[in-house]
Amino acid sequence: MSRRPFVAGNWKMNMLRADAEKLVGELKPLLAGTDSVDVAVCPVYTALAAAAGALAGSKIMLGAQNLHTVESDGAFAQSGAYTGEISAEMLKDACVAWVILGHSERRQYFGETDAGVNAKAKACFAQGLLPIVCVGETLAERDLEQTNAVVEVQTRGCFAGIPAAQAKDCVIAYEPVWAIGTGRTATPQQAQDVHAHIRGVLASIYDEATANAVRIQYGGSMKPGNAAELLAQPDIDGGLIGGAALKAADFAAIVNAAAKR
Ligand code: PGA
Repeated sequence: MSRRPFVAGNWKMNMLRADAEKLVGELKPLLAGTDSVDVAVCPVYTALAAAAGALAGSKIMLGAQNLHTVESDGAFAQSGAYTGEISAEMLKDACVAWVILGHSERRQYFGETDAGVNAKAKACFAQGLLPIVCVGETLAERDLEQTNAVVEVQTRGCFAGIPAAQAKDCVIAYEPVWAIGTGRTATPQQAQDVHAHIRGVLASIYDEATANAVRIQYGGSMKPGNAAELLAQPDIDGGLIGGAALKAADFAAIVNAAAKR
């Protein structure tokens, strides 16, 4: 099964509009030759429009880092009295294609749950957006050998009630919390083991074909120096890149490593 690699830049709470334009402007020529890889950048809400404008004419896609949804009787509110929030329809209107959901920073600082991610994923599909669903264990959980159990609970919770036809288009980002922004990276074998486990969980929820279609990105201090060996693993289909996504040369080097996979 050959899955098209997908590398996404999670810019987190960084970049003013001018910075976003500059970074996209630098990325475009660097990525012009990498047609075999899907690439997305995920700026803050306030830089989406600037990034979208700068991305015009390139195949780099636009992503967001969250959305808000309220479900009532199976319908998702796209507007209303939810001060400070942004709906799936609004993201679509802003040219967004992908939405990062359930990032560990959102789980840790903003109380996001698997049930919440599940509702947000459904809200994405209702508007034709695609989710990047983040899962991953803390260091304490890894030390207690709970990694597989943790990512299984997260995967099952986040995908509850999502039909196979939609699940196959979702992306999962496996991000060991202890490797995010720390400079510590999972070894290729550690990452591969968890990716294979997640794919097995998908096969048990759905079927082999669906599990084999889902792209699973690795995230957690992926950088030019370690990208190739991580991406060489059979179940690692790309990366969700934080720190290294803020420098055009580093991000482009990771995308190029994915192209050689
Ligand atoms: P990092 O972040 O690459 O800076 O570790 C990855 C992420 O949190 O998505």
